[in-house]
Amino acid sequence: MTEQATSFLSDRITSLAESQTIAMAKKARELAAQGYDVINLSFGEPDFQTPQYIKDAAKKALDDGFTFYTPVAGYLDLRQEIVNKLKRDNNLDYKPENIVVSTGAKQSIANVVMSLVNPGDEVIIFSPYWVSYEEVVKLAEGVPVQVKGTIDNDFVITPQQLEDAITSNTKLVMYSSPCNPTGSVFSKEELEAFANILAKHPQIFVMADEIYEYINFTGQHASMAQFDFIKDRVITVNGFSKGYAMTGWRVGYIAANKEIADACDKMQSQITSGTCSIAQKAAVAALKGGRGSAEEMSAAYLRRRDLVLGLMKEIPGIRTYVPQGAFYIFPEISSYFGKSYNGQVINNSNDLSMFILNDAYVAVVSGDAFGADECVRFSFAAADDKLVEAMRRLKESLAKLV
Ligand SMILES: Cc1ncc(COP(=O)(O)O)c(C=O)c1O
Repeated sequence: MTEQATSFLSDRITSLAESQTIAMAKKARELAAQGYDVINLSFGEPDFQTPQYIKDAAKKALDDGFTFYTPVAGYLDLRQEIVNKLKRDNNLDYKPENIVVSTGAKQSIANVVMSLVNPGDEVIIFSPYWVSYEEVVKLAEGVPVQVKGTIDNDFVITPQQLEDAITSNTKLVMYSSPCNPTGSVFSKEELEAFANILAKHPQIFVMADEIYEYINFTGQHASMAQFDFIKDRVITVNGFSKGYAMTGWRVGYIAANKEIADACDKMQSQITSGTCSIAQKAAVAALKGGRGSAEEMSAAYLRRRDLVLGLMKEIPGIRTYVPQGAFYIFPEISSYFGKSYNGQVINNSNDLSMFILNDAYVAVVSGDAFGADECVRFSFAAADDKLVEAMRRLKESLAKLV
C-alpha cells in the first residue's frame, strides 16, 4: 500500500515497529516455500513438543466441557497452582488474588505497562532487551530509556548504570533473566544491588520477566520479588511457553500487589477477557506435573549451547561469551561491518543477517531488534545436526566477506 493509502491508520499503529523476530521467521518461511533448505535459527521457541501429560489434560478439559468463558484473571485452580509454584520454586508468598493469567506473557507485559505508565513516564529497559519491551512502552506513550550491557561483561549491567539512568520521571524498570536475547542470568547478589538502589526511589516499579526460569544453566534462579523491602513494587512475569514448550497455547501470568493485579484484570477485561479454557486446564496439569520435563529439555539446550559455542568459536570474526540460560547466543559480529561480497557491503547487523540468510540459508535475527546492532541472535533450540550444518554454512559464507 502507498503511504497515502495507509494514512487513515492511527499514529499509534503507524509508529509501531513490526516484531523483527516474526518478520525474519516470515522471510525464512518464504525462502523455504521456494524450495531452499533453510535452517531457521530465528525462532524464539522450543523445538520440542508439549509433554504428553499436558496434551492429555487438554483433551480431558474438552471432554469435561470446559468450553465456556473463563474468569478474566484465570481459573481459580490455575491461580492456586501458580501460587503453589511461586512458593515451591521461588519462596514467594502470594494469594490467588495477586495472580492474573493472560494470553501469553506478552499480554501480561502489555497489561503491566498499560496499567502503570503514563505519557512521558520513563521506563528503564535493560539492554539488550526482548523486542517487544520498547514497542509496548511506546504504545503506552512512555519514554524507553535503554541501559546497555556489553559482551565484555556478559551483557550484565552494573548497579551504577541503573543508578545513573534514574530520574524523577522514572516509573518502571524492565528486564528479563534469564535474558532474551543474551541468555545472561542475574545472580541474587546482582539483583539485590539493583533492589537496594530502587529502595531509595519509591515511585519506581520493576517488571521482572522470568519466562526462561526453567532454562537456567547456573542451577540457581533469583527473583527480584524475594527482597521484601521492594516486593510490593515488583511484578513478576512468567508463563508456560518456554519451560513447558507451550508457545502455541498462549498462557502467561503475573504475580503482583493486588492493586496492580486488579488493574491488569481490568485492562484485560476490555481487550481479551480470560485466556483459553482448555489451555488453562493444560497449564494446571503442567504445574502439577512439576519440573521434570522442563529439566529434560533444559539439559538438551545446555548440550546444544556447548555444541554451538564450540563450533562458533572456530569462526574468525565472531566474538562469543557463554550464555547462562534461555536458548540463544548473541555473539558480536561487528568485525564484519565494512566488508563485502559481490559488491554487497555489510554495514550493520541487518545487512549481515540478510547475507547469512541469502548465502547460507540460515535464518538469524539482527541485533538492532534487541538494541545491540553489533550482535546477531542465534537460537539453539534446534536439532543437533541442524545446528552443526548451520555453523558449517555460516563459517563458509562469512569467509566470503572481505
Ligand atoms: C523475554 C520474553 N518475555 C516474554 C515472552 C512472551 O512469551 P509468551 O509466549 O508467553 O507470550 C517472550 C517470548 O519470546 C520472551 O522471550
